Amino acid sequence: MQESGDFLVCGIIGYVGKKRAIPVIIEGLETLEYRGYDSAGLAYLNQQNELKIIKEKGNIIELRKILDFNEESNIGIGHTRWATHGIPSKVNSHPHHVGNITLVHNGIIENYEELKKHELLKDYKFISSTDTEVVCALINSLYNKKKDLLKALEEANKVLIGSYALGILLDNDLAHIYIIKKDSPLIVGIGKNENFIASDVPAILKHTKNYILLNDNDIGIISKNDFKIYNKGKIVKKEILEFEWDLEASMKNGYEHFMLKEIYEQPKVVKQIINEYIKDNELINLPDLTKYKRIDIVGCGSAYHAGLIAKHLFEEYADTEINVAIASEYRYTKNFLDKDSLLIVISQSGETADTLASLRLVKEKGIDTLAIVNVVGSSIAREAKEVLYIKAGPEIAVATTKAYTAQVLLLSLLAFKTGIDKKLITSSDKTKVINEYNSLNKIIEEILEHCDECEKIAKKIYKHEDIFFLGRKVDYAITMEGSLKLKEISYIHSESYPSGELKHGTIALINKNTPVISVITDESIALKTISNIKETKARDSYSIILSSINMDNNKECYDELISIPKVHPLIEPILPVIYLQLIAYYVAKFNGCDIDKPRNLAKSVTVE
Ligand code: G6P
Repeated sequence: MQESGDFLVCGIIGYVGKKRAIPVIIEGLETLEYRGYDSAGLAYLNQQNELKIIKEKGNIIELRKILDFNEESNIGIGHTRWATHGIPSKVNSHPHHVGNITLVHNGIIENYEELKKHELLKDYKFISSTDTEVVCALINSLYNKKKDLLKALEEANKVLIGSYALGILLDNDLAHIYIIKKDSPLIVGIGKNENFIASDVPAILKHTKNYILLNDNDIGIISKNDFKIYNKGKIVKKEILEFEWDLEASMKNGYEHFMLKEIYEQPKVVKQIINEYIKDNELINLPDLTKYKRIDIVGCGSAYHAGLIAKHLFEEYADTEINVAIASEYRYTKNFLDKDSLLIVISQSGETADTLASLRLVKEKGIDTLAIVNVVGSSIAREAKEVLYIKAGPEIAVATTKAYTAQVLLLSLLAFKTGIDKKLITSSDKTKVINEYNSLNKIIEEILEHCDECEKIAKKIYKHEDIFFLGRKVDYAITMEGSLKLKEISYIHSESYPSGELKHGTIALINKNTPVISVITDESIALKTISNIKETKARDSYSIILSSINMDNNKECYDELISIPKVHPLIEPILPVIYLQLIAYYVAKFNGCDIDKPRNLAKSVTVE
């Protein structure tokens, strides 16, 4: 159902038929919450032909609280939002209303700033910070000119640049929902005496399994017994399809778990980040960090691990020393930041209590702060002096995968930019590395297409009570994330060790067949790690090596070998984790664990 470019951002549903529209829309939105959940709203025309728009910040439970479910209405549109332009707030949430037009939008309008100056809109006063209000005002102006909404949509389609799936109500029209679609998903659900629009099939499955797919530039008018779809002014015939998945499977897009779906979304996430931060072979939208004499990085869990990778990349390629700390420690430890320093905080949710507290502590002293965050408008994003978004889209599985990869990629770009700004990277190296960033999504796609070995390895190790990870330097940081992933979702005891440290105690725990997973990407210390692996092999360990280095001369060191594609060291730390995520996933699966909601863990830890 998904299309390229769709990051499951925002959910749309619309209903026209005999049932009460409000419950149909709210239940539909609830099935779409995996596409975003920072605010929600709906618009409907009641039987007196009055337009009502009700919206609320927060998830759909908040919206439910303020709705009158008994109000009679047979037509409406609803939206659950994942902010891209403007913080999550009532005024920024959808539906938006201008003049005769009320609409919900999924997608991003790239030329919305230019459009604000458009002849048709120059007198309009915008009240929100969204791109959607611009679309709404534009369509309203075009409608006032043409007096025909389908024609107005045709005109709008010529002016809008970006992606948009729109569900539209026209004032005083109790019978029709209007739609237009480009580069964002939208379907029309076909029922009996009722029809629907939705960004994804789960929203309508309770009512019908029949739907039509829309193509880009399709414009349509939907009533309870009919639908007409036009493309380039001509009516198009649509085949009615029957949906084969059940509700749960469809929310996960056919994947068994959200975690697996999110692992497989990583190429798209990578592409999204590269599009945002690299243009015409130049780095864009990234701050200059060269003025800082000291940089601390703080985060919790996987975000902390992303910081550890950044330390290696900044030190190696930007000659910049980085101090990385766990937020719950940092906030209670003396720090040495001054006015020439920067604190970088990393957080997927932007709400983690310890990370937020660390940020506030440093900010109070007037020190610069930079947040690397996924959730737009979250507390950390709002409070930091500067914010960079990782553009990973909603992450539902508790154990992070795509957001962690996005954090590492963004930090890698920052280290690269700092190296360039400090003139440490030659222009030919710069071009080479940028080319590699540009092809990273394809490399990850390849990995995900040929990763059966991860499942096979998981099958061999899933019954063990202890699994160890080894690595040196950046490879150690990588294995820390692999080990955390494994213990989080499989409940197997796991530790990651700097390979040289193993012999100072932990090697006592290695005995016959204990799985030891090692990562070797850093050529400069490969032989050292290999010696340490041999020490575990001497104790009969079951050795699994993930390496981007040729291991032909070291066959005695491993029982299983995963060969990782060789890329530039600035990018390399991203790749091994993809395999480690999959190994953790399958180990947990074979153990029958609740993968998306592991025991005792929460996605967003807002308490100390
Ligand atoms: C929880 C999650 C982890 C996450 C950590 C930090 O422990 O289970 O997956 O890495 O919080 O969360 P944040 O939202 O700040 O990145």
